[in-house]
Formats: sequence, structure tokens, C-alpha cells
Amino acid sequence: MNLRFILIFLVLDDYSVGISSQNCRNDSSENSFVYRRVCYFANWAAKRHDNISRLTPEDIDPFLCTHINFAFAKVLESLALAPYEEDDAHGWTGGPGMYERVIKLKEKNPNLRILLSEYPGAKDQGAEAHTKRGYTKLVKKLSRTFEKEASLTGKEKLLLTCATAAARHRIEAGYEVKEICEYFDFISVMTYDYHGSWDGKTGHNSPLYGMKKEPKKFREWNVNNSMYVWMDKGCPREKLNIGLSAYGRAFSLYGEKPTKRKIGVKASAAEAGQYTREAGVLAYYEICEILQKDSSARIFWHKQMSVPYISKSSLWIGFDNIRSITVKMKYLKREGFGGVIIWSLDLDDKTGEICHEGPFPIFNAAKRELSKITDNDDETNDECSENKTLTSSDHSNNSSIKNNHHPYSIIFMASNSVNNYGDNDNDDQISNKNNEYLKTELVSKLLKHFLPDDKSSRLATDTVKLFTELLFLFITETIERSITQAKNDGSQTVNIEHIEKIFVQLLLDF
Ligand SMILES: *[C@@H]1O[C@H](CO)[C@@H](O)[C@H](O)[C@H]1NC(C)=O
Ligand SMILES: *[C@@H]1O[C@H](CO)[C@@H](O)[C@H](O)[C@H]1NC(C)=O
Ligand SMILES: *[C@@H]1O[C@H](CO)[C@@H](O)[C@H](O)[C@H]1NC(C)=O
Ligand SMILES: *[C@@H]1O[C@H](CO)[C@@H](O)[C@H](O)[C@H]1NC(C)=O
Ligand SMILES: *[C@@H]1O[C@H](CO)[C@@H](O)[C@H](O)[C@H]1NC(C)=O
Ligand SMILES: *[C@@H]1O[C@H](CO)[C@@H](O)[C@H](O)[C@H]1NC(C)=O
Repeated sequence: MNLRFILIFLVLDDYSVGISSQNCRNDSSENSFVYRRVCYFANWAAKRHDNISRLTPEDIDPFLCTHINFAFAKVLESLALAPYEEDDAHGWTGGPGMYERVIKLKEKNPNLRILLSEYPGAKDQGAEAHTKRGYTKLVKKLSRTFEKEASLTGKEKLLLTCATAAARHRIEAGYEVKEICEYFDFISVMTYDYHGSWDGKTGHNSPLYGMKKEPKKFREWNVNNSMYVWMDKGCPREKLNIGLSAYGRAFSLYGEKPTKRKIGVKASAAEAGQYTREAGVLAYYEICEILQKDSSARIFWHKQMSVPYISKSSLWIGFDNIRSITVKMKYLKREGFGGVIIWSLDLDDKTGEICHEGPFPIFNAAKRELSKITDNDDETNDECSENKTLTSSDHSNNSSIKNNHHPYSIIFMASNSVNNYGDNDNDDQISNKNNEYLKTELVSKLLKHFLPDDKSSRLATDTVKLFTELLFLFITETIERSITQAKNDGSQTVNIEHIEKIFVQLLLDF
């Protein structure tokens, strides 16, 4: 009984949300399009000694990513791929190696793709000058070989992808863009590390846009510009992934006094984080800790660059949070890019115990926004909810109230796209698309909503999954019946009251 009540509530509650209909992207591919979420798994992170910073393959939610990039493998002189760490291929005590443990995630999510990542070279990193043309040749050859292998074995073609430079001079020096984009399945642009302690002054790790008064040298150093460089050189948008970071870059200002000018202030690398232990770099969860320990530390929003930073006496941190990730994902959808690549799983708050924003808040923020098929695209009024600890300018409890709204927006998406019914004459495509989005969204949202305690949610996963599947079936059936009814009525849109009635009727029948 309780269950029924909740379900109805989920649907009813959503009507207060304004409905706007707008498709995010050109979606003419044969299957419903799912934005890629390529996540980096760092093999060394699995070997850390404390359980805050350690991330093992078993810690990864199998539905968080569409692809996992295993970092790193190496290429031998013979051009053979080889493991970096001894325990990648075989566990130290005879157990499964790290590769096998990551691949095991596919048992739960067969659609997950696992990739081996090789660290890219550059002229100043030991690569040779003539490699630009050679690189294209190599990529072409690999692509052809993968195709051949697929046709010989009847297996799905292996994916060929790369993580590439974001700076124009590197792109121009390193790649024949148009050609390589043809052979790669997708290209992930590392749109982070634009600024760091090496600049000798404060600057943001990953600004979405540039700012007005910026030194000429830095004018192109932002996500938007890098993506445009790739596009302008002939790479198709849908093959490009935007790079996101689950870390920030931190500076120690020379003058103790906070200055008005926050960016471009003389500074050096800030002290290393307690867990990640690299000067000038802080994991997202380490940034959460800084905010929690020091109630006077505030987050500022840089309007022009559309990213947050923290400025507190001599400490300056440029980073990404739920808000900026959400803004970047709205940008991604507007521009029609194919997905994201995120560095790296171990730097996010894996259990949600530190930041109190749920497990993997950064990765989930990207997933949440990319799973929405409609979008009112209002960046100042986005649904991007943040915990109050991360919106230090807002000390009300209202942000946590907002958080509880997420499960409802799932239904909102469904009804929304049913409203779009008249725009598209392929019913199957509509419902397939919905199914895909609803399914992944529901699994994670409902887990969180009904079992907010992480430990219990782990214990009860099977139950929750069953429940989720059930709800999913109800919704699918509701949508299908609604579309049929609308068609029978000769209507171009589905009446929201009909949806409600059908849904309630299904529940009562059940
Ligand atoms: C959508 O994509 C298809 C194929 O990729 C292309 O032919 C078509 O022109 C695109 N439509 C729009 C509106 O961009
Ligand atoms: C971390 O590890 C220690 C010892 O291995 C254990 O006692 C503790 O419960 C663990 N903490 C968490 C949050 O898992
Ligand atoms: C994004 O970059 C392109 C190319 O440089 C530029 O034309 C456009 O104005 C930029 N968008 C914003 C919002 O800055
Ligand atoms: C926020 O919530 C806490 C605990 O739930 C409560 O003590 C406090 O009064 C609330 N503050 C506001 C502004 O509502
Ligand atoms: C919190 O939300 C309530 C109702 O939504 C509103 O009346 C109140 O002003 C809000 N408080 C703050 C501090 O924003
Ligand atoms: C936000 O953080 C506080 C403490 O940091 C925590 O008690 C609260 O449950 C969190 N709220 C949400 C919605 O995660």
C-alpha cells in the first residue's frame, strides 16, 4: 500500500513543473542516442592505503559510466600493448588482476565498455617530430585492423579512441584532425589543466568560457574554445567528448591578504591534500573537507568563466562542482557534442560520505544532466541542486529540499517527451529513447531516494532493483498506452490527465 502511494505521489508531484519542449540534439541515428560518459579508472588508486582515497574496481557503480578507460597501459617498442603494473594482468596473490576486476563490472552492466588507455605523447614528452603524419597512418591502420578482426570473428568491433590535447598549438602540432576523426570512434578532449601552479599565478583549471580581460596568451584557454578548435578543423561534433575534472587546482597566494583581483594573482602550488598528496591538486572530496573545516571558506561563482572557485586568505582553488558540471553539460547538449570524459573516479566522493551529495557527486551530476532529454536551459535557474556546504553563499536549508525533487523529474521527462509526440513520426524511437533514459535514471535516483543510507542501499540492491524494474515497467506501459490513446483520439499531444489516469489504473489493476 505504502508503495502505491509513493508511486502516485511521484507522478502527481510533477505537474507544478513548467513544461518546455526542446530536443537536445540531432538524433537521427538508428538507435536512441546515449551521451558517452567515459570515466578514467586509475590503477594506482586501487592500491592506496587509506580507504578514503582508495578506489577499487568493486567500488565503481556499474551504471555510472558508459565506458571505463583503464589508465594506463604502455606500448612496447614492438608496438605490443603491455600492462603498466604487475597486478593489472594477474593479482598478486593469484587472484584476478585489475583488468579482470574492471571487466567484471560488465556482468552487471553488459553495455559498459572497457578501454585501455595509453598515455599520449608530445614533442616535449619524448614523441618525435615526424609523428603527425605517422600518427594518422597508425590510427588508420588500427582502425582497418579492428574492422577486419570484427568481420573475421563476428564480434563487435573494438573501439578506437583517444584522449587529446586541448591547446591549439598542441592540436596543430600533433594531429591531422580531419583524418584522425574519421578513424577514431570518438575523441576525448582533455579540457582541463588550463591553469595551474606552473603559471606562477592563479587561474582556473577548467573554465567553460574565457573572460573579457584576459592576457592574449590565455584567451583561447577554455573548454568552449578548445572544442571549437577541434570542430573548426573538421572533427564532427558528435565524435567529440568534453573533458571534466573531479579535482581542482589550488594555489597559495604570496600576499596573505585576499586581493580583489582573484585571477592572475601571483601564487605558487598550494600544500598537498591529505590524501592525494600532490602539491597544487585537490580531489573533489578534499575540497569538500576544506569547506567543512573552515566555515568562513566561501565558494564564489565566476560568471564569465562559469565555474566556481574558493578564495580564503592565501588559499585559492579553481575547481568544478555540481553546478558547473551541470552548466557544462547543458552547454554540451546545446552544442551537440557526443559526451564527456572524466578524470578520474578515485577523485570524486565515491561513497558520498564526505561531501554529502550522494555517491560520486561529480560523475552523477554529469550523468543526471546528460540523461535529461529535455531541458529548459536556464542556467541561472537550473535544477542543479547543491548541498549547502557547497553553496556557502546560501545558508538556508532550501537546497536540500530541492535535492529531494530529483526522482520526480524522471516522470517529468517522460511526460515531456510524450508531449513532443507530434514532432516525430517514429513511435518506437520515442519510447525506446525514454526507456533508456528512464531506466538508468530510475535505478540511481530510487536507490538514493528510498535508501539514502549508503550501507543499507548496498545490502538491499537486489530489492531496490526489482522495485525499480517494476516501476519502469509501469511507466513504459503508461507511455505506450498514452501514445496509443492519443493516436486513437487523433491528437498530436498526450494529455497529462490521461497519463495520470492510465498510470493510476495500472497501479490499481496491479
Ligand atoms: C542531423 O544529422 C543527419 C545525419 O547525421 C544530417 O543529415 C542532418 O542534416 C542533421 N540535421 C540537422 C538539423 O542538423
Ligand atoms: C576504513 O578502514 C578501516 C580499517 O581498515 C576500517 O576500520 C574503517 O571502518 C574503514 N572506514 C570506512 C569508512 O570504510
Ligand atoms: C565559443 O567559442 C567560439 C569560437 O571561439 C566563439 O565564437 C563563441 O563566441 C564562444 N562562445 C562563448 C559563449 O563564449
Ligand atoms: C535548517 O535545518 C536545521 C536542522 O534540520 C534547523 O535546525 C535549522 O533551523 C534550519 N534552518 C533554516 C534556516 O531553516
Ligand atoms: C526557503 O523556501 C521557502 C519556501 O519555498 C521560502 O519561503 C523561504 O524564503 C526560503 N528561504 C530562504 C532562506 O531562501
Ligand atoms: C548536506 O550536508 C550536510 C552536512 O554536511 C548533511 O547533514 C546533509 O544531510 C546534506 N544534505 C543532503 C541533501 O545531502
